[in-house]
Amino acid sequence: MKNYIPTLALAVIIAASCSSPKGNSPYEAQIKKQIDRMTLEEKAGQMVQITIDAALDPSTGELNQSALDEMIGKYKVGSFLNVVGGVCPSAEWMSGIVTALQEKSMAELGIPTVYGLDMIHGATYLDQGTFFPQEVNLAATFNPEHAANMGRILAYETRSMQVPWVFSPVMDLGRNPLWPRQYESWGEDPYVQTVMAEAETRAIQGADYNNVGLENAAVSIKHYMAYGVPATGKDRTPAYIPDYELRERYFRPFKACIEAGALTLMVNSSSINGVPVHSSHKLLTEWTKEELNWDGMIVTDWADIDNLFQRDHIAADRKEALVLGINAGIDMIMDPYRAETAQDICDLVREGRIPMSRIDDAVARVLRLKYRLGLFDSPTWEFDYSKVNCPEFVAQATAAAVESEVLLKNDGILPLKENARILVTGPNANSIRTLNGGWSYTWQGTDNPAYVERFNTIYEALSARFSNVKYVPGITYKEYGDWQEEDASGIGQAVAAAAGCDVIVACVGENTYCETPGNINDLSMSANQRNLVKALAATGKPVVLILNEGRPRVINDIEPLASAVVDIMLPGNYGADALAALLSGDENFSGKLPFTYPKWVNSLHTYDYKVTEHREVMDGAYNYDAVMDVQWSFGDGLSYTTFAYSNLSVTPEEFTAGDEITVSVDVTNSGDVKGKESVLVYSSDLVASIIPDVRRLRAFTKVELAPGETKTVTLKIPARELAFAGDDGKWHLEEGEFRISAGGLGEIINCTATSDWK
Ligand code: BGC
Repeated sequence: MKNYIPTLALAVIIAASCSSPKGNSPYEAQIKKQIDRMTLEEKAGQMVQITIDAALDPSTGELNQSALDEMIGKYKVGSFLNVVGGVCPSAEWMSGIVTALQEKSMAELGIPTVYGLDMIHGATYLDQGTFFPQEVNLAATFNPEHAANMGRILAYETRSMQVPWVFSPVMDLGRNPLWPRQYESWGEDPYVQTVMAEAETRAIQGADYNNVGLENAAVSIKHYMAYGVPATGKDRTPAYIPDYELRERYFRPFKACIEAGALTLMVNSSSINGVPVHSSHKLLTEWTKEELNWDGMIVTDWADIDNLFQRDHIAADRKEALVLGINAGIDMIMDPYRAETAQDICDLVREGRIPMSRIDDAVARVLRLKYRLGLFDSPTWEFDYSKVNCPEFVAQATAAAVESEVLLKNDGILPLKENARILVTGPNANSIRTLNGGWSYTWQGTDNPAYVERFNTIYEALSARFSNVKYVPGITYKEYGDWQEEDASGIGQAVAAAAGCDVIVACVGENTYCETPGNINDLSMSANQRNLVKALAATGKPVVLILNEGRPRVINDIEPLASAVVDIMLPGNYGADALAALLSGDENFSGKLPFTYPKWVNSLHTYDYKVTEHREVMDGAYNYDAVMDVQWSFGDGLSYTTFAYSNLSVTPEEFTAGDEITVSVDVTNSGDVKGKESVLVYSSDLVASIIPDVRRLRAFTKVELAPGETKTVTLKIPARELAFAGDDGKWHLEEGEFRISAGGLGEIINCTATSDWK
């Protein structure tokens, strides 16, 4: 049983079917009939996915009929994806394109195409879409209701484009802060990721994955798996992870989402322990399709079959790469520009290098998705989409932003005084682009002025709320070209402007990026921006530091100069309005960091570090300590009120694997204003046969309390959840003491019998 209680999430969960998609589809007879009548060429075409720009005439932006004749007519391609680079489509334009593709597919193949789009933090490839904060922000809310709202709304809005499939939720654990896709993840903790991604998956797909409704879509949980922990921190570079760690941290959330009904998954573009995931029979077929008896569909990431030979050097040529990938369990190849891949597949079957049974299985999985989406009956649909970006959706996205912004330091300067003379400065102060980050209108989050005029930047939102606000940027980003380039020639002007102000709101961080272009060599915040903050602080005026960034850039030299620090991360189009409400005290902060904020570029840790990462000074003449020193910890986040924890009770005191542990604690609002508190419950295995993690988050919920009010929070943890995965591929719950803690209180309970299971 999960411990989050929000009503909407609960309703979605109760309505949802409880089993994973595994051979219970009502479409098997139809699928068999289709496969029996299909030629090898038709089958191979179903396994290929092409990007839409390959099918458009670049001069007119219209579909190119001869390209379609080749793709759908000749190669029988069964799926399309993407938008045209640099342009965010309207629902009308996209509907026209998909409708034409469906007409052509039905006429040529009698099988509908399935179109997929990256909708990463809302319907972020729709010009009128409702943009939520990025996933890392939603994780900071510790409130899965927001993940469910985003899922429900993005599915509805994506359907307005005649698109029934989204490449979301992203489920890469952000455990290496250098990695440029950290913001797309739910932070560093697998339990938070499981709860949030499950809530979003159920909300996107709706109550019945066998009959995905017109207001829902199929998900593609991605990127399976451990994509977020490249050793170098650079995108699409290798990870090295022991199998037990893979199972325990990385596989579990995917398993949970598959059990929650996820219909497709997209593969990690990189490699684990020297094996590209796209060629791993173990991870693609054994762990998902076989162990979970899952009948869903596996799609590659962008051009990743090519990567097997061009980048990874594990295949001599494209055909060998196709053999490796398809035999490992790939069902659909995002090839993006090469429909001829369908021909290669046919050749490989005729050469005996890919068995026909594997092709039939892959095609069955593709067709099953199409049946589950209702595409055979209605390749296109009519529906009243008047709710797109309606006030209710905007209110949900704004509420998520309010709960996602994290107050990390406050010497009392916040809330800002009503009549304060405020200088708003920094390269992020007057930009909607930086509030959203990548995957916003366009891939890199650029080229968006036409779409964002109606939203408020931080400067605009503060101006709307306070009467005396001045804006001098000090530093600006380059609009086009390298996202890291800055113009710092205005620092002097910003410093001069500080003279006439009572408080400086310095908005610093990063410009937008996405995937590999976001790679960096140094986690420090740019020297220019740190210099700006130092120069502003030297004026003696209090500085409120607003961090608007996709990953935690190191700021150990400027943090001490700030009176307050707020990490707004990437809160989306409504993030500045949320910030103005928080800085003014109209709303209270309740976000908590879902990752560890590093203090030093070469000292990167996660909250659930091995106990050996942090050691006391040893007795005797020689010291072998190891000191962990982070800027802020996972779970840190302040409020305008305070919360006191008391009466922690953990039962039973003695337990075995089959038991359920009940944790209850009283939480009191001990301050003067109402506030919300995320109650986080951790476990620590005090002695284990492999070095234990110092603590692991096992349950959480969020409560709202009036000043002086106390609520008893009760959370349940199945004892099996306290187990660790061993080298032998089994789970182990070992005899001995466990500490259960919440809000600084802790109780020891005792496991009285060791159990192992597969
Ligand atoms: C990204 C995926 C995305 C795909 C299709 C790739 O470059 O890694 O996350 O879904 O492109 O746009």
